[in-house]
Amino acid sequence: MAAKRIYLNLFGAQGSGKGTQARMLQEWLGVPQVATGDLFRANMGQGTELGKLAKSYMDRGDLVPDSVTVEMVKDRLSQPDAAKGAIFDGFPRNLAQAEALDAMLAQWGTGIKAAVYLQLDREQLMKRITGRRTCKNCQAVYHVEFNPPKVDGVCDVCGGEVVQRADDADEVAVARRLDIYFEQTTPVIDYYRGKKLLKEVDGSLNIEAVQQAMRSAIKPKPVRKAKPIAKPVKKAARKASKKVAAKKAKPVKKVSAKKAATKKATRK
Ligand code: AP5
Ligand code: MG
Ligand code: ZN
Repeated sequence: MAAKRIYLNLFGAQGSGKGTQARMLQEWLGVPQVATGDLFRANMGQGTELGKLAKSYMDRGDLVPDSVTVEMVKDRLSQPDAAKGAIFDGFPRNLAQAEALDAMLAQWGTGIKAAVYLQLDREQLMKRITGRRTCKNCQAVYHVEFNPPKVDGVCDVCGGEVVQRADDADEVAVARRLDIYFEQTTPVIDYYRGKKLLKEVDGSLNIEAVQQAMRSAIKPKPVRKAKPIAKPVKKAARKASKKVAAKKAKPVKKVSAKKAATKKATRK
């Protein structure tokens, strides 16, 4: 059971596209996105004690205390949809959280499979953050220029209201978040680099191209079949692989899907 789990970390400064990419990756990997910022915002929306506490930190651009964050992640991972793993978005954010996560996963006989780092310069980050809009209901991410919803102010996914995040509207808080990121999260990147788990991806490309690059950088096989990215297999080839599969009971299709993904990404 534990050997089949996939835990993936996404790193990158505010606005680098973690949330956008994590939402696409969860379809492919068959495991949910666990975004600590989204979990805090959901609690704020529901007016829970956790939400009230988180808000006081988030409004200033500060990190929520580690003990609170780690407990919330633990709780999220115990839910049935996370039984096969998770894509961490915005967590861990400092060394203490990285060590707590490693300890948590070690108890289950597993660990992080890859840590993907989305690189982008500060000027581009500011443009992404100031133009970002988010669904109040399902937290889908949009951008006024790069990725607008089909109908202005209305979420494509759930029909909810698309608004600007409170912490994006305050330029001082945005600058503070970026400073904290470079101060506290950079050591986490070195931590995973030291463990040879770091995959660096150019976050300045368009959304689709970043996704392609991420998929080819991630070594673990998806829990589910790689549906959206796999090239259609020709009829004859499909017949042949069925025969081989019947003989050897080997995951032939999964191997070809992975090859197709790599080919497609390298062509771009
Ligand atoms: P959180 O919600 O995690 O925010 P963040 O780290 O500041 O990251 P963002 O969500 O701002 O950026 P993103 O990388 O997800 O970019 P996105 O995909 O939206 O955290 C908020 C706060 O919560 C923290 O400040 C802290 O207080 C607290 N918190 C959270 N986790 C915590 C933790 N572990 N410990 C303690 N406190 C914690 O993309 C940005 C924009 O660009 C969007 O508009 C998008 O449409 C657009 N875009 C994305 N990709 C592309 C592309 N390739 N080309 C063009 N546009 C693109
Ligand atoms: Mg995000
Ligand atoms: Zn929505």
